[in-house]
Amino acid sequence: MSLHQQVTDEFERRYGVKPQAVVRAPGRVNLIGEHTDYNDGFVLPMAINRATWIALRPRNDRVVRVYSIEFKDAAEFELDRLEKTPSRWVEYVKGVAWALQNAGYVLTGWDGVIAGDVPIGAGLSSSAALELATARAFGVTSGFPWSAPIMAKLGQKAENQWVGMNCGIMDQMISAAGKDGHALLIDCRTLDSQLVPLPPNTLVVVLDTATRRGLVDSAYNERRAQCEAAAQYFGVPALRDVTMEMFEARAAGLDEVTRRRARHVITENARTLEAAEVMRRGDAVALGKLMDASHASMRDDFEISRPEMDKMVELAQAHPASYGARMTGGGFGGAAVALVRAEVVGEFVTIVGERYRQATGLKPAIYVCEATNGAEVVG
Ligand code: GLA
Repeated sequence: MSLHQQVTDEFERRYGVKPQAVVRAPGRVNLIGEHTDYNDGFVLPMAINRATWIALRPRNDRVVRVYSIEFKDAAEFELDRLEKTPSRWVEYVKGVAWALQNAGYVLTGWDGVIAGDVPIGAGLSSSAALELATARAFGVTSGFPWSAPIMAKLGQKAENQWVGMNCGIMDQMISAAGKDGHALLIDCRTLDSQLVPLPPNTLVVVLDTATRRGLVDSAYNERRAQCEAAAQYFGVPALRDVTMEMFEARAAGLDEVTRRRARHVITENARTLEAAEVMRRGDAVALGKLMDASHASMRDDFEISRPEMDKMVELAQAHPASYGARMTGGGFGGAAVALVRAEVVGEFVTIVGERYRQATGLKPAIYVCEATNGAEVVG
């Protein structure tokens, strides 16, 4: 049964009436442009056909009452008395309410049922999906206009300041603004975005390594701090402003680790812009090569991969149906992404999955993804 149907049925069961609206917001996979967003750089993600769905009806007070099918858990809170509780899925819902109210939106409460199929912790942005679906839900009950960049920024604020994860803007922006059949080249400084078509006869395959990031926050924050230190050294607001020529002229003055961190971001920004260009020409071979180079840069310069991830990427790259593969998302575990010839995708999935299992003893989850719309009201 589809998630749309599941949230609708569960809503009727719990509240005795049909929901007034159903909203959805997708997870994402990033094709290229990793750890560039918080450096004011470029990213090239697409929204995927895995999403968070909410069936809801407005209430005539300022209470939000919501049940999660995924967590088999109910929660209730008052918009006039938002308080943090120990980490639970509902903190993302509350965090968005907090960010919206903080920005001056006047909110109305709702009854809702939530379900999602974005795997948690796989690096596919299940939290951004929940944040943007929540923003859509409040949009329905409270009647404010939808702006993808504004809602993405508020989702990010919820994540940064309510949940306490210091992420960039990529995940929220693509979950808000994704478009069917396309990736989005996002300028993370201006939040301008351009639609970029996927190369013809290719499919995007997500390969979840079944490893999970452990102490991700500290490693992520450490990378951010290293990037900021490098930008300061070059005397610019962000590493986005450092060209390869500037880097080569002055990099010798940086310590070895900071130099490699900066080199990843600077080369990754260039690869991302080039990736959008070759995609516009429909050149899958060139895109695949850029993805391979991106992985090497994350592994060697940014040091955010791990042995199981390298193995998955190596197996995907070695398969004849693949154009290229790389780790995707924050790093230290989670999923890889591969660009694969559409007509042989079944064989790719079977063989790479089997070889990964043999090599690591882990059971991977593999998803052939379609590019979908960002957050929307569907009924
Ligand atoms: C996580 C963060 C994003 C981005 C990526 C790395 O997904 O949430 O903002 O920084 O890592 O590209």
